[in-house]
Amino acid sequence: MKRVGFVGWRGMVGSALMERMAAEGGFEGIEPVFFSTSSPGSPGPGLGGASDPLRDAYDLEELASLDALVSCQGGTYTGRVHGPLRASGWKGFWIDASSKLRMEPDAVIVLDPVNRRAIDRGLAEGALDLVGGNCTVSLMLLGLAGLFEAGLVEWVSSMTYQAASGAGARCMRELLLQMGALRDAAGPALEDPAGAMLDIDRSVTAAQRSPAFPAEAFAAPLAGSLIPWIDEPVGEGRTREEWKGFAEANKILATEEPIPVDGICVRVGAMRCHSQALVVKLKRDLPLADCEALIASHNPWARVVPNEKESTLGRLSPAAVSGGLEVPVGRLHKMRMGGEYLAAFTCGDQLLWGAAEPIRRALEIALGRL
Ligand code: HSE
Repeated sequence: MKRVGFVGWRGMVGSALMERMAAEGGFEGIEPVFFSTSSPGSPGPGLGGASDPLRDAYDLEELASLDALVSCQGGTYTGRVHGPLRASGWKGFWIDASSKLRMEPDAVIVLDPVNRRAIDRGLAEGALDLVGGNCTVSLMLLGLAGLFEAGLVEWVSSMTYQAASGAGARCMRELLLQMGALRDAAGPALEDPAGAMLDIDRSVTAAQRSPAFPAEAFAAPLAGSLIPWIDEPVGEGRTREEWKGFAEANKILATEEPIPVDGICVRVGAMRCHSQALVVKLKRDLPLADCEALIASHNPWARVVPNEKESTLGRLSPAAVSGGLEVPVGRLHKMRMGGEYLAAFTCGDQLLWGAAEPIRRALEIALGRL
């Protein structure tokens, strides 16, 4: 039986992964070994029948006994442990949710409904580092895969609306605290339907600008506002999150001629679903119905939502999508700029297809079960 280690399984992505693995029988037929960076020796989670105490996630000998290691621990852990473990001669699979190894030439970015062929080619060539992609990139590619696979995409402009979860659990908590602070600032006037809205708004804005407003994690108000900046600057006016759109999408698609993907990434007050407003420049004026058919038929998760109000409100929002694997693509229409310009809006769970699901499936692929 294959020994599979898990590090970072208690964090948010790790917990989403544990839930999905349990739901899909992923612990069956493997020997799971649970590690900890902070509390080795304390009781294990009892998941998948593993009752042993937690092992030390920095113990290279222990790690070297594994056939595969799944890390949701983050890039710092990967940076500290991956190199020495490989240098010790370990030939197991390192399956990683962090971005640390993504652009390494030997690493394969895994999004198997989109790039199964590239994954299989990588495995045939001996690749052992399988890395999940950036959440917005994975969700955009999953939604539009039918158009990419048909070779129809000349470029994509992606304007994102990214949820608090992408910044971590602490940020989700802070978003809720901010929402509560705004409600408190509105005060009793909110109960009175005749309450003067401009007065309420002044109180809310004053609260957002107050040094007492809970904004340590985001460094800015998010509730009742937005933050058009994610991650660090990388030059030419872009943030790292925006840079990843081009770099990772092209690596995942294994394009010979890179497809420009560019846009502005914005944090909004959604909990765990990333949305994107897309302009797709098609290589030719394909009828809208054909575009919809390509999107809908590519994979079981991409769903075309009719471009009308009721379906859009009911099915194309973070509130509708949260906790599920569907990636709805809606608002599809040709733009005034010409028949090659396709507008679309898509939304997907940042913790599932945006993070845990490609990792869960990569493990299944590495185990030869998918
Ligand atoms: N970098 C993403 C975000 C999440 O900040 O939303 C990880 O892919």
